[in-house]
Amino acid sequence: RTVYVNGEYLPEEEAKISVFDRGFLMADAVYEVTSVLGGKLIDFAGHAERLHRSLALLDMRQPVTDEELLAVHRELVARNGIEDGLVYLQVTRGNPGDRDFAFPDPDKVKAGIVLFTQSKPGLADNPAAKTGMKVISIPDIRWGRRDIKTVQLLYPSIGKMMAKKAGCDDAWFVEDEGVVTEGTSNNAYIVKGGRIVTRQLSEDILHGITRAAILRFAREAQMVVEERAFTVAEAQAADEAFVTSASAFVMPVVEIDGVALGSGAPGPVTRRLREIYLEESR
Ligand code: PDD
Repeated sequence: RTVYVNGEYLPEEEAKISVFDRGFLMADAVYEVTSVLGGKLIDFAGHAERLHRSLALLDMRQPVTDEELLAVHRELVARNGIEDGLVYLQVTRGNPGDRDFAFPDPDKVKAGIVLFTQSKPGLADNPAAKTGMKVISIPDIRWGRRDIKTVQLLYPSIGKMMAKKAGCDDAWFVEDEGVVTEGTSNNAYIVKGGRIVTRQLSEDILHGITRAAILRFAREAQMVVEERAFTVAEAQAADEAFVTSASAFVMPVVEIDGVALGSGAPGPVTRRLREIYLEESR
């Protein structure tokens, strides 16, 4: 596989990152994941825009222009022959040559950038979309700026492992009083009486690019959308539930903490939104 590191295209075996890189030592880095379907990047502009926001909020500079960023995405998709898959992009504050809590001077230490692809043949035909996912709820003990897409992913990884251990597929994070924030790596939704409910944007959740597209498509299809918090109990009593992300698109949720939703199979609103999303974004 060919990867991109700080201006160079290299075989992955030859790519090198310093042990002093702040992304490695401090999780001082932000990332984006853009899906590829039929060789086409899905919603690149949205991901580039969110990257700008994450960088600005952390006082980091983008090491390449937007044009270069798009060109590197396309080049890696082409060089690696990606039909269906993902492009991972990470920008780190860089390598100050030592370990220090204080940020280095951005005029002296340049931000670093890494991109690589993951081939996922049949990404849009994931069999889980037919059966749906089982989720567990776990306390949301992440930091308070989940709107910044940092690489601090240890707790989401732990959440995924807790779900697997419980015989489930994923976890939903919940705050006090059982209010759902989002999934380990996706935004969470419920459907009740035809109304789509998903938590409002704030610093508490990632502002999903897929979320923005899904809400736009839902409203265009005259569906009712409510952007507000909901609890696990409300979700368990809902007709349907689903999650969205760049890698899962729209994925049905059929069980929450052992309680089956509705018929226990993916519901009609979820299936329709998945179809619309795949159709419109391809
Ligand atoms: N995760 N919430 C969290 C915590 C996420 O990590 C993600 C994305 C989302 C959905 O955002 P988007 O629709 O822009 O992908 C919501 C990516 C896919 C990942 O970490 O692999």
